[in-house]
Amino acid sequence: MAQNAHAARPGEQTPAVEDDHKGPKGVIKVPQRLLMGPGPANAYPRVLAAQSLPLLGHMHPPFFAIMDEIQEGLRYLFQTKSPYVLLVSGTGHAGMEAAIANLLEPGETIVVGNNGIWGTRVADMAGRFRGNVVELKRDAGQTFSLDEIKAAVQEHKPAVLFLCQGESSTGTHQNLAGVGDLCREHGVLLIVDTVCSLGAVPIFADAWKIDCIYSGSQKVLSAPPGAAPLMFGQRALDKLKGRKTKPATYNLDLNLIGDYWGWFGKRSYHHTGMVSMWYAMREALEIAREEGLEQLWARHNAMHKRLWDGLKSMGLEPFVEKQADRLISVNTIKVPEGVDWAAVVKNAMDTFNVEIAGGLGPTAGKCWRVGVMGANAHPAPVDLVISSFQDGLARQKRSL
Ligand SMILES: Cc1ncc(COP(=O)(O)O)c(C=O)c1O
Repeated sequence: MAQNAHAARPGEQTPAVEDDHKGPKGVIKVPQRLLMGPGPANAYPRVLAAQSLPLLGHMHPPFFAIMDEIQEGLRYLFQTKSPYVLLVSGTGHAGMEAAIANLLEPGETIVVGNNGIWGTRVADMAGRFRGNVVELKRDAGQTFSLDEIKAAVQEHKPAVLFLCQGESSTGTHQNLAGVGDLCREHGVLLIVDTVCSLGAVPIFADAWKIDCIYSGSQKVLSAPPGAAPLMFGQRALDKLKGRKTKPATYNLDLNLIGDYWGWFGKRSYHHTGMVSMWYAMREALEIAREEGLEQLWARHNAMHKRLWDGLKSMGLEPFVEKQADRLISVNTIKVPEGVDWAAVVKNAMDTFNVEIAGGLGPTAGKCWRVGVMGANAHPAPVDLVISSFQDGLARQKRSL
């Protein structure tokens, strides 16, 4: 049997362990870092404090009251009156998979807007759930026009259309104007990924006629990763209830999870609610409500401008050509010819204790990605990122 090198034998004291992760006597120790990549962003202290409150049972009435508050907060964030909101237990991918698994039946067609890694993943998932996947492709850094989307819907007559509002692998912001109306006209359900955009840029689920939105906890909401906000409008719920086949996942079946969240007038156990994570989300949603959506959007916009004023002053350029297509929460910055992007990322961490990231998927090696989200969308963190670029680039010039 394997022996734990640090385990004490009878009569011995547990030895103190000192390394990067463990403090004396095995107590976990974690370095403080500024997380300015595409996520997670740093969490609000108030959110972290909420996570250390005493556990309640997941079927206790006081916990149900907290779940009710979370649903109120989600309705505000999504700008919907729909009763069908909840947190999926898991990260953004769990929200993504719940949306696809529940709204697409085997053999049905889904048109997937694919202009980065998230469209690629949705296409992969939809195939696994036996959908007929049609990818509407655009190069990294570009978005879809309403005309293109319309042509795809008319040609393929899908049951479902997927678009990503904030494409964090490429830094684009998909304009959703008119898409909801188009989908209603053609009897298509519209799913929108807002993992990196919810709270940073406007979305109005009801007014824009979006049938399903999912998001993540660790970006603009500045809670830890582990909760995926999700919204179903009435048409999405009707589709779920009218399915010919059960969703091919027990874990993410929204008939069952919805029952735990009181969607159908009662509460039944499906899985153990993530008690401490839900406390964190209750607090994060309340922080967003206290600040107010308009102020939240304005703050993200102002910090995006501040970042770019600094970056442009040193000659750096946006990866996304058109201003209107640029996502303000995850900013993609072109790597200039001859610059070692990874060295800039490493220097930011080593010298400034700041995380920034390189590209992902189609943008790997072509850009840096800087997140300006939630608790970090303030002047001091943004200025530190700018300083880290200045220093990282200056060091390379000196060594060239
Ligand atoms: C737009 C988008 N969708 C989905 C995801 C997946 O989220 P998670 O990593 O929380 O599963 C991410 C993560 O960065 C994202 O940015």
